[in-house]
Amino acid sequence: MRIVVTGASGLLGKKVASVSERHHQVVGTSFQDRSYGHQVLDLRSAEDISPFLDACRPEAVIHTAALTDVARCEAEAKLAKRINADATSMLARWCEDNGAKLVYVSSDYVFDGESGPYREDSEPYPVQIYGYTKLLGEMAVLRGHRRGAVVRVGILHGMNDRRDKRTVTLDVLRALRAKQRMVLDHGRIKYPTLIDDVADALLQVIADDARGIFHVASQEPVTRYEWALRVARAFELDDSLLVPDPELEKDVTPRRPVDVRLIDSSTAFAIHGLDQSLAIIRGQLRKEALA
Ligand SMILES: NC(=O)c1ccc[n+]([C@@H]2O[C@H](COP(=O)([O-])OP(=O)(O)OC[C@H]3O[C@@H](n4cnc5c(N)ncnc54)[C@H](OP(=O)(O)O)[C@@H]3O)[C@@H](O)[C@H]2O)c1
Repeated sequence: MRIVVTGASGLLGKKVASVSERHHQVVGTSFQDRSYGHQVLDLRSAEDISPFLDACRPEAVIHTAALTDVARCEAEAKLAKRINADATSMLARWCEDNGAKLVYVSSDYVFDGESGPYREDSEPYPVQIYGYTKLLGEMAVLRGHRRGAVVRVGILHGMNDRRDKRTVTLDVLRALRAKQRMVLDHGRIKYPTLIDDVADALLQVIADDARGIFHVASQEPVTRYEWALRVARAFELDDSLLVPDPELEKDVTPRRPVDVRLIDSSTAFAIHGLDQSLAIIRGQLRKEALA
């Protein structure tokens, strides 16, 4: 199958592109990062989207690209809407008109985190611009494209290469290896989800031609501090350098949800627990060091 992966220079998109390449013909897109040799596609320019897809003629589009910086979305709301919602709407329209399948990666941040756990049909209620624009993207996919699928994921971690963007796992590893003390939030609950699991789930949605909303997230609740302790244990590092702070993110702006557990009612997806995910990442880091 010919698949376009948008955001193939991002944390999740890199994994999705490399996993997809095993079985499919893949065209990855990037925006500012030109180092992977992907096609350049600027989602701010709505008029560029259809000609790009006309030239590629994909049978499926996995849309991972987004403005993911929550603070920047708040400061530049119009830009966030253009990239996260309007561009998604253009992709949905092209896919609908051309018989292609669109799978859109969305976020746990479409919920406020006050009354979870959340099922696929729970009422979304985003509390910051990022979540709101991701929700608008979801609506564009579900309303504009009969075969559209929305895959909501929890906070991501994983390993592609040395240029991956920051994740809690990699931040903790770097700090502990450098013997640096690290203060971590011990108030909010996160569900660390492995990018490899998400990539597999996205491809499964395409293979099944599944439509509607899907939840792909770990079910293991941890604070960032507890997550860091597990990283220290998995990599045999000194956890006495880790310091919990229950108030660290209490008043952070823009507001973040306290606890969004995404329930997968379809039970369709295999998701690794945190210790297993960390063992996988450890193996991948070893391989990368040897490469
Ligand atoms: N990371 C998380 O914890 C998390 C949690 C929940 C949901 N999600 C969702 O999962 C998806 C992937 O997230 P991620 O963290 O892997 O993303 P990321 O690492 O921040 O990468 C974002 C990607 O989007 C591309 N992009 C940004 N602005 C663009 C523009 N104007 N035109 C075209 N492409 C543009 C970037 O390209 P360049 O780098 O080349 O500029 C990059 O490839 C997103 O849809 C996000 O909303 C992520």
